[in-house]
Amino acid sequence: MTDLEDVDLDFVRLGGTGIQTSELQFGTWRFGKETEEGNVEIGESRAHDLLDAYETAGGRYIDTADVYGGGKSEEWIGDWLADRDRERFTIASKIYWQIRDGDPNSRGTNRKNVRHRVDELLDRLGTDYVDVLYIHRWDDETPTREMMKTLNALVEAGKVHYLGASTLRPNAWKVAKANQLARDEGWEPFTVLQPRYNLVDREIEGDYLEFARSEDLAVCPWSPLGQGFLTGKYDREDGLTGESRAAESSRFEDAYLTEENFDLHDELDAVADEVDATPAQTALAWLTHREGVSAPIVGARTVDQLEENLAAAEIDLTEEQVDRLTEAKGGPYAGL
Ligand SMILES: NC(=O)c1ccc[n+]([C@@H]2O[C@H](COP(=O)([O-])OP(=O)(O)OC[C@H]3O[C@@H](n4cnc5c(N)ncnc54)[C@H](OP(=O)(O)O)[C@@H]3O)[C@@H](O)[C@H]2O)c1
Repeated sequence: MTDLEDVDLDFVRLGGTGIQTSELQFGTWRFGKETEEGNVEIGESRAHDLLDAYETAGGRYIDTADVYGGGKSEEWIGDWLADRDRERFTIASKIYWQIRDGDPNSRGTNRKNVRHRVDELLDRLGTDYVDVLYIHRWDDETPTREMMKTLNALVEAGKVHYLGASTLRPNAWKVAKANQLARDEGWEPFTVLQPRYNLVDREIEGDYLEFARSEDLAVCPWSPLGQGFLTGKYDREDGLTGESRAAESSRFEDAYLTEENFDLHDELDAVADEVDATPAQTALAWLTHREGVSAPIVGARTVDQLEENLAAAEIDLTEEQVDRLTEAKGGPYAGL
């Protein structure tokens, strides 16, 4: 079931905010991204085809960052949006990573960097505001008060609607502390979290997810398919059996191509057969069925992959199937 005509993404509440997000968000990390050999993973024309396919499926939530493709991701989204009603889309971007060699102020969440970076990314996106601005990573060198006050001013100026914190594993307490300060001062707190979370990467289970749930924070998992591991194209004996960029990285091989993960994949294949879906669709459906998850951020290198992944929205899993998948990797996990 990979026909886009059959897919119509629903809206779901973005945590405790007043807005709704598509049940599957679209991630644009690989737009303009150069491989080690200097090839571009996803060029401009394919990027626009992917955005078209996402829109056709009813998708309205696009995730980017100022460093994706050295700014090309935002630029190409901006060009694509120029022919559309920007108001119909929810756009999230991120700031943090250093952009100029030898300039420590061009990194992190200090006031100078945040103000400058947000103006630049709005310019690339061709819009007056982003719906969600994430801090891509936590900056231990900038006082939390300086960061929160600066971020709050952006919300008050209308350049940003909601604040998000990305990754932070396992530092949920830092968000808790920053949000307490924001509340005490009447500033905007973080309302959206973006951690790595998928069937094989389960570090956020326990305190992090409990915290998010208790505060009604949105949880939007990145790498929902373990960078492609959960799609069935890796084989226990032969490694990669299809085409992949991730497979070029030895870090990927060490992290994902393990016996324990292949055991989990066997269970994923079994459940996928039962629901007449692909492993990728079943892995995404597991995430959307997890309590506390708002909407995974789906990535894809080709339109075919994206179509397959978006069709996951139509897959129903029973509680028993969700539990089997949850427990396939050393579960059950604390707190869930
Ligand atoms: N906040 C952060 O620090 C952070 C970090 C990472 C990502 N993100 C966000 O999360 C988004 C998704 O992350 P991700 O790209 O790592 O997600 P992912 O879904 O885990 O991996 C996507 C990759 O898996 C492969 N793939 C996807 N669907 C497939 C299919 N149906 N069949 C075969 N292969 C398939 C493709 O790579 P190959 O074909 O090359 O194998 C694709 O590029 C990003 O675009 C970005 O917006 C955020």
